[in-house]
Amino acid sequence: MPKERNVLEKNNRRRERKKIGRRMCYLLSFVLFLCILSIIGIYKKVEASSTIYIETQDLIIYQDDKMPIFITSISAEGDTDYLLDVKSGYSVASLVSDLNKGKGLEVECTVYETYQVGEGFQEGEYLIEAHLSEEYQQKFKEGWSKNVKIKIKDGNLKVLNTSGYWEDDIFLSWKGEPLTNQWIKSEGILYYLDSTGTKVVDTQVQMGMTLYTFDSEGQVSGTERHIDPDKPMIALTFDDGPGDYTMELLQVLEEYDAAATFFMQGVNIQENDRETLLKMVEIGCELGNHSTYHPDLTTLTASEIEREINITSAKIEELAGTSPTVFRPPYGAWDSEVKETVGFPIILWNVDTLDWKTNSSEVVLEHVLSAADDGDIILMHDTKAWSVAAMIEAVPTLIERGYQLVTISELAQYNGVELEIGEPYYFFK
Ligand code: NI
Repeated sequence: MPKERNVLEKNNRRRERKKIGRRMCYLLSFVLFLCILSIIGIYKKVEASSTIYIETQDLIIYQDDKMPIFITSISAEGDTDYLLDVKSGYSVASLVSDLNKGKGLEVECTVYETYQVGEGFQEGEYLIEAHLSEEYQQKFKEGWSKNVKIKIKDGNLKVLNTSGYWEDDIFLSWKGEPLTNQWIKSEGILYYLDSTGTKVVDTQVQMGMTLYTFDSEGQVSGTERHIDPDKPMIALTFDDGPGDYTMELLQVLEEYDAAATFFMQGVNIQENDRETLLKMVEIGCELGNHSTYHPDLTTLTASEIEREINITSAKIEELAGTSPTVFRPPYGAWDSEVKETVGFPIILWNVDTLDWKTNSSEVVLEHVLSAADDGDIILMHDTKAWSVAAMIEAVPTLIERGYQLVTISELAQYNGVELEIGEPYYFFK
């Protein structure tokens, strides 16, 4: 009996062991199943991807518009709840929201580099490029790029000419009307439009004192100072400067391509007038000597006269880099001693505006316009604000009337007169 009992117990134990083994097996399988599930889960998580679209809007502006503001629209597709940073809870949606606020986003356009004061932006087409800031680019490099894709579409900026547009060789205003008899700057190049609005090509056009040569494309290929001997001319002359208004006067002359003669007084020529004197030379004006302290030269000795003239000539040479070519005695007073001593042609006048005592730009303007005639030498003072103010209107009006505004030397030359040292001249007709 005990033997039988032993066998029975043995069988029981074996059965028990088998049972445990089977349970272990189930458990292992279950663990394995969980493992597979979690691996699939992680894999799925790695694959969890989304795409952010950054689209830059196209823009059209005019050259003289203000600095454009570039607009980007941000959208996203895919699993935007995906956490890019688990700790802080920063999701793809948070990134989209940041980008929408402009954070982490930079927009660049080379149009800014073309801006020039007075000219605005340069005509043409420019790329508007959006890109992530360096900080965000780094974050993408460090891992975000596994989960988020960024797709950027650049924008296009078109800068239109402020004045209008070309229709073949005719330049039209934005209202559709041709612009006539004027300069137009298009894509940085100057063109001249004739009376029909067509750009001038393969020809020469006289404007003011300048003869412009245009090539077959309508670009200026050459300029030269040109005086038509058959057309009337006038010499505007300005005494006692340089003064506070001389530069303004030079700008008026430059604008209308006109020249004048400046009889300067040495005591008024200061170091800071260098720019003014250089401008006179640059735009073709003539430099004249008007003594140093403005005395009546007929009351001085020869050596005193020389001193009066030499100080002023030296100052002009120092600042302008060139010597004066004509002389005007103060008060127009000269005698035989002045004639023998000055060393310059003596330039007087035949039209005296009396501007030094009128105090009125209207009176000066009226006087100049009513008196002006071919061959005249007109006396004014650039030290008087009203005289310079009068010139803003007188210069274009005289040109419109067909007068060429020239220097004393030019007026003499085109009237066949060779200026002689010590000789007085009142006009050239
Ligand atoms: Ni004077």
